[in-house]
Amino acid sequence: MSSSILSRSIFFTSSSRASSSLFISRNLSSHAYLPSSSSSQAGPSSTSSTTSAATDILIEATTTTPNNLTIEQKQLIDSIIRVDQAGELGANWIYRGQKWAMDLKGDKETSKQVEEMWENERHHLNILSKLQNQHKVRPTLLYPLWQVMAFGLGASTGLLSKEAAMACTEAVETVIGEHYDDQLKSIQNLINVENPHPSLPLMANILKEFRDDELEHLDTAVEEGAQKAPGHSLLSAIIGVGCKVAIKVCEKV
Ligand SMILES: [Fe+2]
Ligand SMILES: [Fe+2]
Repeated sequence: MSSSILSRSIFFTSSSRASSSLFISRNLSSHAYLPSSSSSQAGPSSTSSTTSAATDILIEATTTTPNNLTIEQKQLIDSIIRVDQAGELGANWIYRGQKWAMDLKGDKETSKQVEEMWENERHHLNILSKLQNQHKVRPTLLYPLWQVMAFGLGASTGLLSKEAAMACTEAVETVIGEHYDDQLKSIQNLINVENPHPSLPLMANILKEFRDDELEHLDTAVEEGAQKAPGHSLLSAIIGVGCKVAIKVCEKV
């Protein structure tokens, strides 16, 4: 329980700092990475003049496969996309399983809450699939396995009780939120140079947006009684370890 509260306090702090970037990445995400007239914030730092050359680079980075990333940048972006696409696929199937269970039990209110969170996950997966195509990243080979395991996790906790379903969401979103935060730090290390490749700040904005969405899901789960689930600590520990193992595996396979 304490680690979850700690995580949320970290996220709350970073969430408020990131608020101004939320609109930017949501805007970009909604437009298939075509930068809008104001999207220079997602490209090179604002100290750069918005010359047509800079705009051309930004458009190229957001609409075509970048061919001028360094090996280090390419490896980091590829690894982020592969593992996050797998994670978002898992999240989609967890919520699918939870909704199936809630519908089966006739719990319309929880079903609606799950559906709302699931809608965010559909958006996340959609964006990561676009990035996967853009950057020509091989998806994880474990896609079918994640689908079955994630649906099973969502459905079984949902059938157990609403609180168990929320405990599952709390555990998953805690790990995923921390994971996005770690990725954000890694990519920020590469951005802190003069004129970073525009793909990097764009990826950072997307990670911030997704991290903050996961934080909202975590809060919803806690508000809806996650910590009242029977065996909450054990359930959280098992699911949390499972998520961390899945992340490590997806980074490689
Ligand atoms: Fe997500
Ligand atoms: Fe989520």
